[in-house]
Amino acid sequence: MTSITLQNIDKVYSEGNQVIHDVNMDIKSGEFIVIVGPSGCGKSTLLRMIAGLEHISAGDLVINGHRMNTVQPQDRDLAFVFQNYALYPHLTVRDNIAFSLELRGIDKATRHSKADEVAKTLRLSEHLDKKPGQLSGGQRQRVAMGRAIARDAGIYLMDEPLSNLDAELRNSMRAQIKQLHRKLRNTTVYVTHDQIEALTLADKIAVMKDGVLQQFASLKRFTMTLPTYLSHRLSVTHPPTFCRSLFCKTRAL
Ligand SMILES: Nc1ncnc2c1ncn2[C@@H]1O[C@H](COP(=O)(O)OP(=O)(O)O)[C@@H](O)[C@H]1O
Ligand SMILES: [Mg+2]
Repeated sequence: MTSITLQNIDKVYSEGNQVIHDVNMDIKSGEFIVIVGPSGCGKSTLLRMIAGLEHISAGDLVINGHRMNTVQPQDRDLAFVFQNYALYPHLTVRDNIAFSLELRGIDKATRHSKADEVAKTLRLSEHLDKKPGQLSGGQRQRVAMGRAIARDAGIYLMDEPLSNLDAELRNSMRAQIKQLHRKLRNTTVYVTHDQIEALTLADKIAVMKDGVLQQFASLKRFTMTLPTYLSHRLSVTHPPTFCRSLFCKTRAL
């Protein structure tokens, strides 16, 4: 059970370049949050600050009631899935999945049994002895996901994990991610510029523009508020399906 609170978070890179402005967000335990917005709006920066990979310039990051601003990434009980998978090419799928367990000093038999269990969930069992270079993009992506799952972390952070896949594979991976979340219920913060992805995955959507959080609401409330939010855009949208509308909306931000 892990909640995350962002309180008045700012990020200023060197030379006074402020890219995150006063972001406030209350993420409840078990929620699947999608941060969506155009390239360069600060999504990765925000995620990396939650992960501890980027210094927080101002504000507080609170996880389960504890201020975490200066806590090391490895002590934040989280797993990160990157866009480029970041797999170890010389390790087998089994060892890639079990990597974090090895770091924690867990014995080989336990590591392998955990990796086998995770591989089963992700339908990777037949590939356990292969190296990443022998896998397709979709399979590599599932290994990266498996490595995060094997950590059993309270928080999963995912930065555009599907953006290197073709459209068909993205669809099927989205469904798998959703299924996994229903099963595991880990608090998840998922970053994407893809509005369809936001709609299909999120419990709550956070829309960002130029480092400012524009809206943070449940999918249900989001749907209800869309017509007014979009009114001037809807008239030029055809056909005005919900997905198309949201696409226009975030494009317009
Ligand atoms: N290490 C860095 N140093 C300086 N500026 C950066 C750094 N990383 C990102 N930025 C800038 O911060 C802004 C937000 O970047 P980023 O968080 O990567 O956006 P997104 O993930 O939404 O595409 C961009 O203007 C980018 O150029
Ligand atoms: Mg990014």
